[in-house]
Amino acid sequence: MSNPAIYRHLQQRLAEVYERGPDPTLGDFHIPTSVYTDKDRLEQEKRLLRSLPIPIAHVSQLASPGTCLVHDALGVPILVARGRDGTLHAMLNVCRHRGTRLIEEPGFCKVRKGFQCVYHGWNYDLGGCLTYVPRQELFPSLDKSALSLTSLPVTERFGLVWVVAAPGHEYDFDLLLDPLEPDLGPLELQKHVVFRRGTTTARTNWKIVMEAFLDGYHVRHLHKNTVGPYFEGHQSYSERAGPHVRAVVGRGGFREAVASGKVGELRDIATPTYVFFPNTIFVAQPGFVSRATAYPVGLDEIYWEHDLIIPEKPQTDKARAHWELNYELIQNGVFKGEDLWVCEQIQSGLGSGANDRFTYGVEETPIAWFHAELDRRIEAMP
Ligand code: FES
Ligand SMILES: [Fe+2]
Repeated sequence: MSNPAIYRHLQQRLAEVYERGPDPTLGDFHIPTSVYTDKDRLEQEKRLLRSLPIPIAHVSQLASPGTCLVHDALGVPILVARGRDGTLHAMLNVCRHRGTRLIEEPGFCKVRKGFQCVYHGWNYDLGGCLTYVPRQELFPSLDKSALSLTSLPVTERFGLVWVVAAPGHEYDFDLLLDPLEPDLGPLELQKHVVFRRGTTTARTNWKIVMEAFLDGYHVRHLHKNTVGPYFEGHQSYSERAGPHVRAVVGRGGFREAVASGKVGELRDIATPTYVFFPNTIFVAQPGFVSRATAYPVGLDEIYWEHDLIIPEKPQTDKARAHWELNYELIQNGVFKGEDLWVCEQIQSGLGSGANDRFTYGVEETPIAWFHAELDRRIEAMP
């Protein structure tokens, strides 16, 4: 894995924050709590999420022909399949005869040739083409070529599989993904593998979760029993990358390493962390990365999906134990046990009337960027 050149820029900016404090042009601000409790607003947000590319898998999870992913978290039944020729297809998991779900169980699975509907036995190949209709003479006017599974835009970039949950063939993925090229391109994540996928639900609004990852302020407090000690006396720096947020949090020893001029891997002394707009969290830990996405289920519920992505499949018991510990620490200790947990604590008081708005400080500024981007895009929606 090579070091993205942009890490030098992040290191410099972070060093300036350590030296001079945060950008003096930033101020504190407020956000009304109604944005977390408005039902109509949630429906608009869900519609927006379905119009944008969301990374729902790592390429290694869909590597061999016939591997499929059934994914419902965007509120649309998605079926992704790797074709015989290596092409990746995304489509709706809905039979074109009378609408039966083709693969029932969400998650990864493997099929041999394609999909057979359980109801009347229509067959589709891995690309979604309707290949066989039992007793086709019963449909004198049926044109099989017009009844392929409904396709969804899909692309593979940065080792991730990005799907748009709105039917169509054409989609300009570059518009949203190009701003991430300097950060993700050099990581060569397509050569990595997923150690484990962790999923869970949490009783909280999805935006409260996104805010937890746009906030460098909480690390030393909320995470004091897990990763906090690695971030001794930390500072953070954030900036916009298109609609996304690129940030870096200093680890213990950052200041000393920079002062000595002996910085090898930035990731040993600072942690680059991102929010890919709209709902994905990406953390470049030392030696591995986490991709986690928070899908709104209801106003006060999310579905959380976290892939721990590592450089290679562990070959020894020692390596397996090492990643097991990291998975346990990050997924269960930090994300579920602390970040999602505190979001549930916030949710439980949302309706109490204690706050009609929340108060945010300078180190929480990316939260304002996130809400502004969301507002702007929702306003622009047809
Ligand atoms: S609904 Fe699928 S074959 Fe009839
Ligand atoms: Fe956190």
